[in-house]
Amino acid sequence: MNITKLLLLPITVATFGSSVYATPTGEELVKANCASCHTLDMPSPQTMPTFKAPAMEAVLFHVKDAMKDDNKKVKDFIVDYAQNPMRSKTVCESDKVQKFGLMPSLKGKVSPEDLATIADHLIETYPTKGFVTMLTKMLTNDKMNTLKNSPFLMNQDALPHLTKILIENWDKGTLGLTAEQKEKLLVVRTETMTGVKKIKDALNVLETEIIEMTVDDEALKTIQPKVEEVAKLKAQATMIQLKCLKDSLKILNDEQVELLLPFWGV
Ligand code: HEC
Repeated sequence: MNITKLLLLPITVATFGSSVYATPTGEELVKANCASCHTLDMPSPQTMPTFKAPAMEAVLFHVKDAMKDDNKKVKDFIVDYAQNPMRSKTVCESDKVQKFGLMPSLKGKVSPEDLATIADHLIETYPTKGFVTMLTKMLTNDKMNTLKNSPFLMNQDALPHLTKILIENWDKGTLGLTAEQKEKLLVVRTETMTGVKKIKDALNVLETEIIEMTVDDEALKTIQPKVEEVAKLKAQATMIQLKCLKDSLKILNDEQVELLLPFWGV
């Protein structure tokens, strides 16, 4: 061995030691194992259509929310879910699972120890204040838009939008809908949606006419029957909505109702 090689040897060992054997941080592990699917950036309406999975901000928001901020439970859930993902275990809306497909298991790819480090980092980092503010704003906007386009006469929160809540919880194990229940609920949903859609279309036409007649300075007397027609249609839509609620409640058992509508009746 010549002198040059001898001198190089300790340097090689030293470099090797620090780069390969250093324990990666939680942040590095997340970047290496999760970020290819779950963006670590703040989601936006522009970037969302390109996602392969929910943004990490959203994942942690939902998991923490479902586990009532019990960090031990959150950690156990993340470590388990990454190894054994299952439709019935998810806490995010069931329609999201349908959209993205189920997460592939990372069993054998990421060790349980690394998953624990990952979970700690995720719990500490997400969701950020900025994300929570954005989400709150989005939900408020959604609610305003729903109200603006509502064909119903009654829009109180106490009257739950059960079909929507059901779709979000469709595959969750905690709800445990049976195949028979799902089949019946889908019939109710289709009937309701078809009925309400017809009324919404008719309302759109009528309301445009009323606005035009008013702007054209037509007599109130000629406009009034149209307004009464709007009221009649909205009353019909409201009855369809109430029937849907009653029909759905008949299909669900008491525990399921309590799970879906925890604040109902308060
Ligand atoms: C190949 C893509 C992919 C990778 C890599 C990936 N995930 Fe996911 N993950 C998904 C998809 C898709 C979903 C949404 C569907 C679902 O809940 O299974 C998801 C959902 C989740 C959920 C939410 C489950 C729920 O209840 O809503 C958690 C927690 C999660 N991933 C953690 C991780 C962690 C931690 C990593 C890295 C160690 C990771 N994922 C890597 C695709 C991926």
